[in-house]
Amino acid sequence: MNNPTPTHLKQINTLRSEIQQHNYSYHVLDDPTIADVEYDKLFKQLLELEKQFPDLITPDSPTQRVGATPLDGFIKCAHKEPMLSLENGFSDNELEEFDRRVREGLASTKDVVYAVEPKLDGVAVSLVYESGKLVRAVTRGDGRVGEDVTVGVRTINSVPLNLFGSNHPQLVEIRGEIFFPLKEFNIFNENALANGEKTFANPRNAAAGSLRQLDPKITAKRALKFYFHSLGEWIGEAKPQSHSLLTNLLKEWRIPVCQEGAVVVGVAGCLAYYKKLEAKRDGLPYEIDGVVYKVDNFSDRQKLGFVARAPRWAMAHKYAAREVTTTVSAIDIQVGRTGALTPVARLVPVNVGGVMVTNATLHNFQELARKEVRVGDWVMVRRAGDVIPEVVRIIREKRPRVTKEFIPPTTCPVCDAAVVWPQGEVVARCSGGLSCPAQRLGAIKHFVARRAMDIDGLGDKLVASLLEKGFISSIADLYSLVEKKAELLKMERMGEKSVDNLLAGINASRKRDLSHFLFALGIKEVGETTARNLARHFKTWERLSQADQEALQGAADVGSVVAESLLNFFREPHNQEVISQLQLIEDSNWWQVEESATTHGARPLEGVTVVLTGTLEKLTRQQAKARLESLGAKVSGSVSKRTGLVVAGEKAGSKLKKAQELGVNVLDEAGFIDKYL
Ligand code: IVH
Repeated sequence: MNNPTPTHLKQINTLRSEIQQHNYSYHVLDDPTIADVEYDKLFKQLLELEKQFPDLITPDSPTQRVGATPLDGFIKCAHKEPMLSLENGFSDNELEEFDRRVREGLASTKDVVYAVEPKLDGVAVSLVYESGKLVRAVTRGDGRVGEDVTVGVRTINSVPLNLFGSNHPQLVEIRGEIFFPLKEFNIFNENALANGEKTFANPRNAAAGSLRQLDPKITAKRALKFYFHSLGEWIGEAKPQSHSLLTNLLKEWRIPVCQEGAVVVGVAGCLAYYKKLEAKRDGLPYEIDGVVYKVDNFSDRQKLGFVARAPRWAMAHKYAAREVTTTVSAIDIQVGRTGALTPVARLVPVNVGGVMVTNATLHNFQELARKEVRVGDWVMVRRAGDVIPEVVRIIREKRPRVTKEFIPPTTCPVCDAAVVWPQGEVVARCSGGLSCPAQRLGAIKHFVARRAMDIDGLGDKLVASLLEKGFISSIADLYSLVEKKAELLKMERMGEKSVDNLLAGINASRKRDLSHFLFALGIKEVGETTARNLARHFKTWERLSQADQEALQGAADVGSVVAESLLNFFREPHNQEVISQLQLIEDSNWWQVEESATTHGARPLEGVTVVLTGTLEKLTRQQAKARLESLGAKVSGSVSKRTGLVVAGEKAGSKLKKAQELGVNVLDEAGFIDKYL
């Protein structure tokens, strides 16, 4: 084996710090500075050098986050200083009482300065850094003794293995919350559902379950995040004098800190913060169950001290619960666009996190059987963000004496066609196809949807009543509505303006191109990206509809399953009939790809380098990035002369300034949404 030269050593160190830098930009700042492939290249270079010189591998190398061997069990570990809990309050009065006690304890008449943060719903852990190195991570446990979860925590990319900068205390215990972001939680559960595997009831359980894996390789796959919220032991170096100063220092050390944190003054400041965050709650990328108010100044905290197991200087102000109990009054079955049968629990109405909920999904019959839900049962219902409410579990102890097991139907509850259970799928389907009114309704709703033909003025309710009144029975019929203005005006709640709107929307949809049209047809397996690839490859409907299996598989990302599904679609007599009706519509643009760079064109940002900066409110950065890439843009982390567009959210800083200096096009979030979403 070769001996490493100083150049090798330098190379390794440079690669490690570069990788750490990119990790930080990506996982903490949410602001990637290089493309994923370039990151992978650096990582591979480091792996190769370490393979060549194994003696140079250090535990804090970015390659060493996932340990090689699973643990046998978790070791108990005592906290030097107990990890306390918080006093909970639910009303403005309780906040006023808390503030009064604080001022009394401080013998102060002045308004108190509070550090305020979201109360994250996750797992509390303490990270111990010795001379800047992460040596231990321990769960809260009972507050005095927790479990050593170092191996799992090391896999969380945003948690630094080494604190950035210098002059770190000899020992510092950084406490915070490990949580499962909502988007990743939903993806995890959707995949689990599709594979018939066990789902997690909520993100908190998902975080705890993922952290308490003996095999760190599993934890590493689970997208966990960490945010600091409090301090444990601190030995050596001068300690900051307040929570807000400490937070600034931790940011310099590159410890992940929640961006929503703030400093406010007095009860009025706390309340304004509580309300502001409540308005944002549904759009936050993680679950919160309230806000935490903490006296900012550390010596004031010391004066106030503790009661029982909670500090006198902090309070959690809770929001309405996202999980509540109610009873099931019926179990109905919904039939979707693709014929999938979804059991839905009708509930005795209940307020969940500020919204009245009357229905909750049971996903599929397998889930319903697993959860053993029956009419009459008490159930725990959960709503998170803008996701459909779901039944989490039954409360068995409260089951009434007489209940009946739910038996899945053998025929479609809407059209009576046979129910089939396709092999390898967990869902049951109606075999009626477009002769089933429910599938027809779903197909038309999908056709007119924003991402499909984008027909303005035609919402779900209107589609349903047009079908019910016999105005339409297929997507082709939508275009004959233009001749039925007088009849449409006779419908309830359809004034001159709404009818004109509807007809203008229908007319305008003739301008959509092949890729939107293909997606709008709702062909099984053909999502937006596949539709775009097919349109780009075949250019015209004619060529596409005449392609055989092999020719179809010539398009990007089209395999045998997609090709098969397309062939089935083209073969089906009802589809052929609808297509030939659509072919009679004048001035329709659907039969070929649109090359022009309009909003509805295929890739208006093809080849344009776009930089995202600042905080986006309506979209996550990942969503914005994915959307830009689907429009053909190359998303980059830094602004230069070659940048074609900068999308600047709130608090955009140096990148926005540079863009302005260079005269690069800038859009704010609203402008971006308006133009490209
Ligand atoms: S401060 C002495 N801040 O809530 C109290 N806790 O109910 C120090 N939690 O176990 C905690 N978000 O894990 C604080 N922004 C936040 C928090 C937070 C969540 C958890 C914490 C604690 C539990 C108490």
